[in-house]
Amino acid sequence: MHSPLVNGGPADPIARRRTFAIISHPDAGKTTLTEKLLLFGGAIQLAGEVKAKRNRVQTRSDWMGIERERGISVVTSVMTFEYGGCVFNLLDTPGHEDFSEDTYRTLTAVDAAVMVIDAAKGIEARTRKLFEVCRLRDIPIVTFVNKLDRESRDPFDLLDEIEKTLALDTAPINWPIGAGKSFAGTYTFGTKTVRRIADDETMTVSGAEDSAVAALLPAHEAGAWQEEAMLAEAALKPFDLAAFREGHLTPVFFGSALRNFGIRELIDAMAAYAPSPRGQEADKRTVEADEPKMTGFVFKIQANMDPNHRDRIAFMRVCSGRLTRGMKAKLVRTGKAISLNAPQFFFAQDRTVADEAYAGDVVGIPNHGTLRIGDTLTEGEDIVFRGVPSFAPEILRRISIKDAMKAKKLREALEQLAEEGVVQLFIPNDGSGAIVGVVGALQLDVLIERLKTEYGLDAAYETTRFSVCRWVSADDKAELDKFATANNSAMAADLDGAPVFMASSPFSLRYDEERWPTIRFSDVKDYQ
Ligand code: G4P
Repeated sequence: MHSPLVNGGPADPIARRRTFAIISHPDAGKTTLTEKLLLFGGAIQLAGEVKAKRNRVQTRSDWMGIERERGISVVTSVMTFEYGGCVFNLLDTPGHEDFSEDTYRTLTAVDAAVMVIDAAKGIEARTRKLFEVCRLRDIPIVTFVNKLDRESRDPFDLLDEIEKTLALDTAPINWPIGAGKSFAGTYTFGTKTVRRIADDETMTVSGAEDSAVAALLPAHEAGAWQEEAMLAEAALKPFDLAAFREGHLTPVFFGSALRNFGIRELIDAMAAYAPSPRGQEADKRTVEADEPKMTGFVFKIQANMDPNHRDRIAFMRVCSGRLTRGMKAKLVRTGKAISLNAPQFFFAQDRTVADEAYAGDVVGIPNHGTLRIGDTLTEGEDIVFRGVPSFAPEILRRISIKDAMKAKKLREALEQLAEEGVVQLFIPNDGSGAIVGVVGALQLDVLIERLKTEYGLDAAYETTRFSVCRWVSADDKAELDKFATANNSAMAADLDGAPVFMASSPFSLRYDEERWPTIRFSDVKDYQ
């Protein structure tokens, strides 16, 4: 049994918590950085335990096996470690592009993010997308420019790109001394210190112009570096805590995850500047982290963590109060009480029963399908947390099964998998076969495989004339009914029974939007 509290640490467990995620484009170094952060926190003994994605060339069909092997990054969705008097909850975001929806949901459960950028590549597509999700909630971002030990782009150029493409102010905390083969370390503006990569020692200097810094570089690079660093110090913005907390400014650290360089500065900054658990928006009010009563929301469901048992783990972020083992909580969606008999914490590859958890913590709740993504648990209050959205899928397919006798079983399986967030399920109003929606094509393969291995169902896809869908609503219910009747063969109900309109193309969707001005067509739906 284990509690993540730091023994003998400050009394306030909430102030000590830092719940964050790492956002990056594949290959920028997220796995490597995660590994190094866990090492700092002592959560794992040896680098390499966070199973890296060695087998990068993977075919779609062997995805399941590979993900299972990869272990931690998929199966363990949260990693808790302690460092500098803080309890860090690092929420993993799935690496594969196709799982962006899961990633978005995870980002609704964090209070801060570390953005990892490859120094040779700058801001890449997926980083930008994930950043936009963070921006929706003004999540503060700490930037780590990685791989300085390789040939890199000019630091000014990188900062400029962050500012321009993300509309985010930057405040470099340190500055790289050389790059690639001549990468010698970093110079920290505020403390006037140099950390050398050769021996990981820190020395204090009189400033960027100090000859001791120049001496670390090849003679022909030293002069240019001094000029550049002095210019950076004079011209660039200083770090501003308030602007960072509001999500307008990012402190930037240069380093190398692989060489374990710059990680300490990064994690120190997370401890010092990243916010403790923030208040969370619910439908009726904002719930503050320091309220005494326990509240939380489920942002992820993971099935088959143990293939021998059909167990499902619901990952819940505690938003307020104190969760204790054995307590009863109200599942607001159904109004029923559930007992939290075996909430779990995750430490690298171990899970352990949690005796207590506080705002900012993520606990795994084993269940057999009672809990869904977006569910709110409270000590009795009827509130529903906002911000676990569902996005209109980009791919729609009709799903069918040869053996008509198994149609009911297929429907049940689809409902369960949709509750888990594997796919979205749309049941057409005209009684035709179920339609599934996904954000990325890989999810389609995963669905077929899971139907087969877990439910023994041989399902297949058929094309459908629909390619886009939108949730529809109207202020006047009669208008919505009129619309639904006129478009009956293009209407469906989602898992919660909410009306969905399907169109054959974005073009025809636009046409319908123009024809029905009183109807709202939405591509995002808040759960519940
Ligand atoms: P990801 O999770 O963001 O996809 O990235 P990951 O950490 O797996 O890193 C991608 C590749 O970049 C890995 O190399 C990793 O070793 C390398 N890498 C990460 N950080 C640094 C760094 O600071 N400097 C350098 N030079 N390389 C770095 P790989 O060859 O694809 O995999 P591996 O076989 O080395 O694990």
